[in-house]
Amino acid sequence: MWIVSYLSVFVSSCSQILSWKNVTLFLSSTVERSFTKNLYVMTKDEALKQFAYYGAVWFGNSKQHFAFSAYCRLNGWNKLADKWKEEAEEEWDEAEEVLNRLVELGCKPADLQEAMKTIEFPFYDDPKQQIESDYNPEAVKMMSELAQAFADDYPTQKLIQKWIDGEKDHMAWEAQYLNYIDKLGYENFLTAMM
Ligand SMILES: [Fe+2]
Ligand SMILES: [Fe+2]
Repeated sequence: MWIVSYLSVFVSSCSQILSWKNVTLFLSSTVERSFTKNLYVMTKDEALKQFAYYGAVWFGNSKQHFAFSAYCRLNGWNKLADKWKEEAEEEWDEAEEVLNRLVELGCKPADLQEAMKTIEFPFYDDPKQQIESDYNPEAVKMMSELAQAFADDYPTQKLIQKWIDGEKDHMAWEAQYLNYIDKLGYENFLTAMM
């Protein structure tokens, strides 16, 4: 019996495993519906749902980064471990900020429920693959669109803008590391990360 329930939990958790590309697709499908003749008309309700969904994405992404940091530490890549732990902590705090803001806004229980979820991200054991899978300039674009939808809500917009700045930093070091891998060679890069 426990096997059956374990399997059903496993199957339902598999459906929650997303890559950043899937997250972007999910969010853009909502946004696409909101465009009429290039006029941006995301409703406040849609914007709040997306905002809540970001909470779930951020919790999941953060958990993945904590695990990857631990894996790097085990392999002796301490500089990489520190970097991913820093990201994990930042994203966890940001997910918590989503919850706090939704409560302040008096959100519907369904939106809070959405934000408390954890969208799972796949675990990679290869640092280059980890960086490549996490590097997603589309995310900044989507968040900028979401920020626009909160033009009449300055605290929420400011919060989203703060994450956008954080994600730009995040992607800048990822691009830099991918460049190092290219220039130094993978083995030398990993040695430099010890
Ligand atoms: Fe991330
Ligand atoms: Fe990040």
